Amino acid sequence: MESGSSTIHLNHCTQTGVAHTLIGNSLVLRMDALIMILITFTGNGSLMTASCLGLILKLHLKSFGERGLMFVGDSLQRNQWESFVCLVESIIPVKHKSMRRDHSHAVFQAKEYNATIEFYWAPFLVESNSDNPIIADPKSRILRVDSVSKHAKFWVGVDILAFNTYVWWMSGLKVNSLWGSFGNGEEGAEELDTPIAYKIGLKTWANWIDSNIDPNKTRVFFTTMSPTHTRSEDWNKKDGIKCFNETRPVMKRGHWGTGSNKHIMSIVSNVVRKMKFPVTFINITQLSEYRIDGHASIYNELGGQLLTDEQKTDPLRYADCIHWCLPGVPDTWNQIFLAYL
Ligand SMILES: *[C@@H]1O[C@H](CO)[C@@H](O)[C@H](O)[C@H]1NC(C)=O
Ligand SMILES: *[C@@H]1O[C@H](CO)[C@@H](O)[C@H](O)[C@H]1NC(C)=O
Ligand SMILES: *[C@@H]1O[C@H](CO)[C@@H](O)[C@H](O)[C@H]1NC(C)=O
Ligand SMILES: *[C@@H]1O[C@H](CO)[C@@H](O)[C@H](O)[C@H]1NC(C)=O
Repeated sequence: MESGSSTIHLNHCTQTGVAHTLIGNSLVLRMDALIMILITFTGNGSLMTASCLGLILKLHLKSFGERGLMFVGDSLQRNQWESFVCLVESIIPVKHKSMRRDHSHAVFQAKEYNATIEFYWAPFLVESNSDNPIIADPKSRILRVDSVSKHAKFWVGVDILAFNTYVWWMSGLKVNSLWGSFGNGEEGAEELDTPIAYKIGLKTWANWIDSNIDPNKTRVFFTTMSPTHTRSEDWNKKDGIKCFNETRPVMKRGHWGTGSNKHIMSIVSNVVRKMKFPVTFINITQLSEYRIDGHASIYNELGGQLLTDEQKTDPLRYADCIHWCLPGVPDTWNQIFLAYL
């Protein structure tokens, strides 16, 4: 792959993770009819799925404008973007694609189609002092809950926008929030309960979309929360270590763990329902809840490096039960997404 200012680690594309896509798995039977339609295209097994999806994507690429598609949000949204890029890039010859990447913005370009598939980093959607660089200690983060403008200037002119925001709000602490024009700057931040701060932040995003995006030109999607699987009690494994060593999905119908917050979900639906702009949900939460086996676990990266053998022996500390293996669960999210495009 050619590179611009830096290259992306596309090793995720070839890494054979513990996850398989949901297709070919009995869980698929519980998904709605829309997805069932896709199954008839994609058949059994993830290789087949990937190449067929590639062809479907190829058709879509032609219909994307010059600034085709942008995923905006946190590292889970980046996971979905990586999945999308992996699916597309496999069908595009090396000469005809490129990747540019900096700290908060990545642009994959399929030159043949004049199409781009971008990722823009805005983990809270609203502005914060921890966007770039990240502040590791959640106590020191301050959110500007009434403003998205610093980020939003990158969203203008894109044909299809897909947003998310969830895990960064869930530190368990109150959210240091700023709004209006506080005379004393960051000193004036007020601690708000998470659901309240989240609601104000999401409304700020919603207002920006309503007032700045033309529904005749742009489509807007929102990916619902991606469940975390850090409490094995949630699936009745008392002596488990988060999602470590899980090799099968939860089979209990309607399984819902503590890693998906229903209150936050209801805030998302309430805010979006009141928007003028018709936002489409990519509702991935329930189907991903089953997939305790699909996370990166000890096959993740830390600071750009795969875990060492020694780190792998300490899954309590190092296993990543938030992000997903690729190929894997996010490919299924993108199948749902594609069905809407
Ligand atoms: C791609 O976009 C550029 C800029 O709008 C345009 O000049 C060029 O003709 C386009 N190329 C193709 C293959 O559509
Ligand atoms: C979108 O298109 C419809 C139908 O052509 C038109 O009535 C409406 O005013 C347009 N909306 C905007 C925001 O341009
Ligand atoms: C993980 O799975 C392996 C292989 O089944 C097993 O040997 C090991 O004891 C398991 N470890 C834990 C902590 O469950
Ligand atoms: C997503 O789906 C779940 C059930 O699968 C539902 O409870 C939730 O309300 C939906 N979320 C949104 C935002 O539509």
